[in-house]
Amino acid sequence: MKGAIPLSTAFVSLLASILGSNATPLSARGPQTVNPYLDADQYVSPVYTDQVVAAAATIRANGNNALADKALLLAEVPTFLWIDRIAAVTSIGGYLLDARTKQAQSARKQVVNIEVYNLPDRDCSAKASSGELDISQAGLARYEAYIKAIGSQIESYPDVTIVIGLETDSVGNLVSNQSVPKCANAAEAHINGSAFAVAWLSQYANVSIYLDGAHAAWLGWPDNLGPTADILAEIVNRAKVINPAATVRGVATNVSNYNGLGTSTNFGYDELDYVRNLAPLLTARGLPAHFIVDQGRSGQQDYPRSGGDWCNNKQAGFGPRPSSITPDPLIDAIVWVKPGGQGDGTSDETAERFDEACGSETSLKPAPEAGAWFQEYFEQLLENANPPF
Ligand SMILES: *[C@@H]1O[C@H](CO)[C@@H](O)[C@H](O)[C@H]1NC(C)=O
Ligand SMILES: *[C@@H]1O[C@H](CO)[C@@H](O)[C@H](O)[C@H]1NC(C)=O
Ligand SMILES: *[C@@H]1O[C@H](CO)[C@@H](O)[C@H](O)[C@H]1NC(C)=O
Ligand SMILES: *[C@@H]1O[C@H](CO)[C@@H](O)[C@H](O)[C@H]1NC(C)=O
Repeated sequence: MKGAIPLSTAFVSLLASILGSNATPLSARGPQTVNPYLDADQYVSPVYTDQVVAAAATIRANGNNALADKALLLAEVPTFLWIDRIAAVTSIGGYLLDARTKQAQSARKQVVNIEVYNLPDRDCSAKASSGELDISQAGLARYEAYIKAIGSQIESYPDVTIVIGLETDSVGNLVSNQSVPKCANAAEAHINGSAFAVAWLSQYANVSIYLDGAHAAWLGWPDNLGPTADILAEIVNRAKVINPAATVRGVATNVSNYNGLGTSTNFGYDELDYVRNLAPLLTARGLPAHFIVDQGRSGQQDYPRSGGDWCNNKQAGFGPRPSSITPDPLIDAIVWVKPGGQGDGTSDETAERFDEACGSETSLKPAPEAGAWFQEYFEQLLENANPPF
């Protein structure tokens, strides 16, 4: 690749031993030292735009033209592309080509936000988002193949800036849910899978990786901050064993949760406190202290909420819009990782992926499977949006 640092022979042979002799690894890239969101537009997911346009049509058909008009404004809000299964990987190249075209037309850099979310035995402390890969069925090897396939899609687009949010909830489960047998059993595979993703994907130009830091109400407590920084450092250190030039840009917080950013005085419910408390612990471990914070569903803060109220919360509203203007230089950007309106999990008690949190009093019901469009929830987020649309 152009402008790339040559590979050390040791690195090539190490990768070859891991990947098989016919692997042709790409070059190792330098550290991710620049905020990728500066002087850039975040790419609008066409998937979300299509969902929003259909949702607005439904609202209009039900006679609420004012709400339908507001709904259409969501079609322009950038959200992350969720590459949450192997079959979704081949879609990446099309988005990158589209972003390249937009970039040429507007003469402004596009940042394509991708959530990589397919660890084996994923979502191990809950059920709603369990995935397709199973540790007992070669899940880690299949995960590595999935990461390499993502790399093959990215390889041809070094001129498009890509942000990768890595494996939401995985670090939260590693830090605080090891009493759940599925999480304890998955711990090594989750650290190694994440390390492989960092090692492999940091080879590409203009890719910035943010590890997952869960959110304030999960890991923001004094007892959890140190262990969180330790796990994040462990992932990067293991990545460096695979690829000595492996690096990350920082940490993503509040993904798919509801916490505010400098708007709550309630400790544990504000991402700004969390980011500021975690930053020095990352620095002390040699990790970069840069953050992106998901504010997609943080519009409403003045309602009681416990850490367990994560599923289709019935008081939530759309929050502050994606922007590289943030309340603290530690934060690279406000982002919307979770596309608001895609469900968090089914409320059908007979479904295989039913999680009690999705049947609770704090959840809007009836709710479809995680990721499926949830029209009533979209309308709720829109009506509760703050700032309003
Ligand atoms: C990274 O992207 C920027 C702008 O989008 C571009 O100027 C630069 O050449 C890219 N880097 C590589 C190695 O292509
Ligand atoms: C996982 O950890 C969180 C935060 O400590 C806790 O609230 C939750 O109950 C745990 N989940 C399980 C299934 O133990
Ligand atoms: C994880 O990687 C370490 C080396 O960093 C290795 O010793 C261990 O066996 C791996 N575990 C799994 C479950 O892959
Ligand atoms: C992130 O933080 C905000 C709190 O302001 C919260 O409402 C939002 O739901 C969180 N998660 C997402 C996906 O926005």
